[in-house]
Amino acid sequence: MIDLQHITQEYKNADGKGTFFACKDVNLHIDRGDIFGIIGRSGAGKSTLVRCINLLNRPTSGTVIVDGKDLTKMTEEQLRAERRQIGMIFQHFNLLSSRTVFNNVALPLELANTPKEAITKKVMPLLELVGLTEHANKYPSQLSGGQKQRVGIARALSSDPKILLSDEATSALDPETTQATLQLLKKINKELGLTIVMITHEMDVVKEICRRVAVMDKGVIVEEGDVIDVFRDPKCEVTQAMLGTAVSARSIPASMIERVRKLLTSPRELNKAMHLLRLTFVGSSTTAPVLSQACHKFELDFNILLGQVDEVQSESYGTLTLVIEGTEDNYLKAVDFISSNGVRVEDLTHVI
Ligand SMILES: Nc1ncnc2c1ncn2[C@@H]1O[C@H](COP(=O)(O)OP(=O)(O)OP(=O)(O)O)[C@@H](O)[C@H]1O
Ligand SMILES: [Mg+2]
Repeated sequence: MIDLQHITQEYKNADGKGTFFACKDVNLHIDRGDIFGIIGRSGAGKSTLVRCINLLNRPTSGTVIVDGKDLTKMTEEQLRAERRQIGMIFQHFNLLSSRTVFNNVALPLELANTPKEAITKKVMPLLELVGLTEHANKYPSQLSGGQKQRVGIARALSSDPKILLSDEATSALDPETTQATLQLLKKINKELGLTIVMITHEMDVVKEICRRVAVMDKGVIVEEGDVIDVFRDPKCEVTQAMLGTAVSARSIPASMIERVRKLLTSPRELNKAMHLLRLTFVGSSTTAPVLSQACHKFELDFNILLGQVDEVQSESYGTLTLVIEGTEDNYLKAVDFISSNGVRVEDLTHVI
């Protein structure tokens, strides 16, 4: 549905001397009907990139293909028609305060010279879809944040777009309203088959509705994949930092190292060994049964030191750091057993 090829956006530095790249040779492919997340630190170039999709931003170089058509080769008039296929919603809703809910949603249709009757026919079902029928005659100042965003969504849908771009659309909303808005976007994606591109800094948003995610850093896409894969095993430092809690469980805090060291070197039965392990979910497994089965089967004891386990679209991801004790032979068998059940095992004993 969307194919960005070698997108580069160069801007002048604030001091007027030299230039910098807000996007640098970015290639991105987004499938029809997908919900695609773009995450990254502030200033990474996310908004710049997404605004290239409807050419609100004309990139310095690169090609933008939407639904098989090369937008970068179009005249302004052709582009205007194509832009109607691409709706956009924003963090601060961008509603006109002097217009009612109905008239805000109607605005794009008025601008396209749609007859009055056709406008009513179009707007009322959209208000119904977003659950605002009763509020049609209110003004934005009389609405809650969530309701305002729903007006924004209805307005973006008024020209029957194929794509919906969302730039931090839930960032100004409380968690409950965010949830409701995400459910609405999910419904729109499913019922209308819309392709949705979501820029967000909220990992919960990505987790909740995106199928794929790209991570941007300094104008470049540094990581991309199915959400579950990226969340389970973030490769880049930026992604790990953005995933926050999952990261802290990946490394052992300095305060704990001494205790673990003591534990590992403490005296024990002659034929027994102790290992420090990190388990990372890499397949569709739930570690708890795998771990307890392994320990039961191979007569091992374990003690969990750190853990962070969460779910994305009903698949678990995360890490567990633990010490495990038993005979060396059984330990090796247990590692085999755990690995073959979709959990990556790293022995960190020598790191301590
Ligand atoms: N019109 C412009 N002229 C000059 N520099 C710009 C312009 N638009 C954006 N930039 C710069 O490009 C970089 C990327 O900006 P962009 O808005 O794409 O970041 P972002 O990832 O969306 O950040 P945020 O999460 O804060 O919204 C920033 O350093 C920004 O200051
Ligand atoms: Mg932005």
